[in-house]
Amino acid sequence: MFFVLVAVLALAGVIAHMAPASGQSDGEAAPVFGIKIPPGYRDWKLISVAHEAGDFNDLRAVLGNDVAIKAYRDGTLPFPDGAIIARLAWRYVPSEENNKVFGRPQSFVAGPPTNVQFMVKDSSKYAATGGWGFAQFNDGKPVDEVVLNTCFACHEPVKARDFVFTRYAP
Ligand code: HEC
Repeated sequence: MFFVLVAVLALAGVIAHMAPASGQSDGEAAPVFGIKIPPGYRDWKLISVAHEAGDFNDLRAVLGNDVAIKAYRDGTLPFPDGAIIARLAWRYVPSEENNKVFGRPQSFVAGPPTNVQFMVKDSSKYAATGGWGFAQFNDGKPVDEVVLNTCFACHEPVKARDFVFTRYAP
């Protein structure tokens, strides 16, 4: 039994070591909340998508780690510690290639990435901001404190949903 446990732990260690394949987890931690890019976040499950026009002019995907996805599906509020929600965004660009086959200009797709944001739940560590730590990375680099200090205040209106705007898209 002990050997099985050792083998399992060894394997878990190998997997944990492999996880940063998607990159950047060795990168710099964001200020204020000390969050690094979570390894493997690009493989997380989809919660929903959004399009912001105006100055953002982007397409967004909101992804969750297993803890976040389970909480969403079970309707658990507040989100438990360990939940992480990622918001990825790309420029909203027309696709000539797609428009050609549709025969008219109607197609918009994800262009170059703009930035990635994270909300990390740790109710004791981040007690002052609703239990959430906030982080944003532009091209893998954390944004400064001034930007991070705007996050929580703007998420406050959805306090009733544990400060999370995005609803689970069935
Ligand atoms: C001006 C208000 C505003 C500010 C400032 C803001 N957010 Fe948000 N955030 C939103 C809205 C609205 C959504 C949902 C719609 C969307 O994604 O466009 C959202 C979505 C998110 C999501 C997906 C989960 C959710 O709540 O829907 C994450 C993660 C996130 N924001 C992180 C951050 C971080 C990190 C910062 C600071 C760097 C930040 N936000 C600053 C308004 C804001």
